[in-house]
Amino acid sequence: MAKDWNPASWRSMPIEQVPDYPDPMALADTEKKLATYPPLVFAGEARKLTRALGEVAEGRGFLLQGGDCAESFAEHGADNIRDFFRAFLQMAVVLTFGASQPVVKVGRIAGQFAKPRSSNNETRDGKTLPSYRGDIINGIEFDEASRIPSPERQIEAYRQSAATLNLLRAFAQGGYANLENVHQWMLGFVGGSPEAERYRALADRISETMNFMRAIGINSENHPSLRETDFFTSHEALLLGYEEALTRVDSTSGDWYATSGHMIWIGDRTRQEDNAHVEFCRGIKNPIGLKCGPSLEPDALLRLIDRLNPENKAGRLTLITRFGHEKVDAHLPKLIRAVEREGRKVVWSCDPMHGNTITLNHYKTRPFDRILSEVESFFAVHRAEGTHAGGIHIEMTGKDVTECTGGARPVLAEDLSDRYHTHCDPRLNANQALELAFLVAELLKDDHAAAPSQQQAVIR
Ligand code: PEP
Ligand code: CO
Repeated sequence: MAKDWNPASWRSMPIEQVPDYPDPMALADTEKKLATYPPLVFAGEARKLTRALGEVAEGRGFLLQGGDCAESFAEHGADNIRDFFRAFLQMAVVLTFGASQPVVKVGRIAGQFAKPRSSNNETRDGKTLPSYRGDIINGIEFDEASRIPSPERQIEAYRQSAATLNLLRAFAQGGYANLENVHQWMLGFVGGSPEAERYRALADRISETMNFMRAIGINSENHPSLRETDFFTSHEALLLGYEEALTRVDSTSGDWYATSGHMIWIGDRTRQEDNAHVEFCRGIKNPIGLKCGPSLEPDALLRLIDRLNPENKAGRLTLITRFGHEKVDAHLPKLIRAVEREGRKVVWSCDPMHGNTITLNHYKTRPFDRILSEVESFFAVHRAEGTHAGGIHIEMTGKDVTECTGGARPVLAEDLSDRYHTHCDPRLNANQALELAFLVAELLKDDHAAAPSQQQAVIR
């Protein structure tokens, strides 16, 4: 167990991004109540994810992590969850085929409710109110009552997370994810889009392969891996009182686990090494993500790695880099070199969203070509450094929203107002997400093709 750590040890550390709850007693009561609720995930599942990510860290797999920037209470419902899951599975299939490698599937879902903000307040038409911090804390409506943090929201976030997770487990294990349904996942697609056509062609090839396998006796009845998939959940561990209440000892190992989700990550605004968020995360055994923005220097990163993964266990730590499309070359190589020099085992994942946000027609948006450009630079740098481009971390939805501009069926600046539904940052819509998956699959294929010659070079 981590030294001098307990689930509440973060409380004596400096902390950023804390909501101003008007009634601390009510907050304490809510946390006490949550501490009696059943865990949302189990330690064994978190360990399974760590093992899968360990393979990725060793270069034998790819991490697909994605979902809403902020889940919202209002959008909670079966259709949204199904549409997200379907879009996500389609991406995963495209990547698995492209990479010929296992794809580790981790949703930003079933707990992604708390948001860090760059300012404590928001001003509109001369009126200033506390900023919206995610549905687990306060309401998005711009009125005084909504913006007051309310502990009761944590109970609702727990309830929704449990219901979402329940449906996701059913989809993943109960037949929906059966590869034999790869064509049926087309339903709901915006007909005739270029991605739909590409997807249909790929689904044909998969069906052909499945037919061949069936002919030689391999089918989804005798091979569960064809009809089931492992799907994991993740969110930013921002609201530490909530996280602490759901932190439990695993009876089989005696270790502490966050049971609010399988993987949790530390945001770019709360990764100060002597602060509360790093303190909380160092003591739990789940796989941890660490957002790495342009202000993170190699020495500070190494100190954070020391703290978060002192045993250098592959799969424990995923570094999620998010620099902005023009800054990758200036920042990523020096971080990779430091990590390689010290022999640290990490998964490198690329978040091409958070460094590429601009404002157009008063809407926060992200141009698709910049998102793609950051991913391409990420792959190019890893290839040059001889390290494994291990994953992508994206904000996406299964719906046909108009939040990010561009793509093969382009969303134009003037379209943004049509279906701009996000509660926080702009997300890729289902078509844009699938297009990105096809492009990443190409990059992975190139990496695969490059790998044998690199090995030969070493042998020679
Ligand atoms: C996020 O992932 O929604 C987020 C706020 O990211 P970051 O911490 O990298 O800014
Ligand atoms: Co975001």
